[in-house]
Amino acid sequence: MLPQPSLRLGLATILATGALAAVSPDGTCGMVKGGANKGYTCFKEKACCSSSGYCGAEDAYCLSSAGCQGSYSNATSACRAPVPGTTISVDGTCGTVEAGKFGYKCPGTDCCSAA
Ligand SMILES: *[C@@H]1O[C@H](CO)[C@@H](O)[C@H](O)[C@H]1NC(C)=O
Repeated sequence: MLPQPSLRLGLATILATGALAAVSPDGTCGMVKGGANKGYTCFKEKACCSSSGYCGAEDAYCLSSAGCQGSYSNATSACRAPVPGTTISVDGTCGTVEAGKFGYKCPGTDCCSAA
């Protein structure tokens, strides 16, 4: 049975204001994509909420440059900035010229093209 309309409105208000942040039971987080408007925050082991709405601990989830969502991570500080020249690329871009925006390093022995 669905909750009473007044209760549902109250819950929606709480979710919208972030006063209630339920810890994710299913690895999804936030509102967008995988998060599906549920607004869950991530648990400690996978503290970062990715731009796709899933919890994880790897760079692809945690890099602020990759869209880590601080407000749905286990702590805002779970998201981290890339270290130029050190952080391995999570999006195929590298360096700081042309497509390179974040100073990512290529994986392995791959070279970073001039474009
Ligand atoms: C962080 O995760 C722990 C469980 O791993 C949970 O108890 C805690 O409420 C979470 N914090 C937030 C802000 O979601």
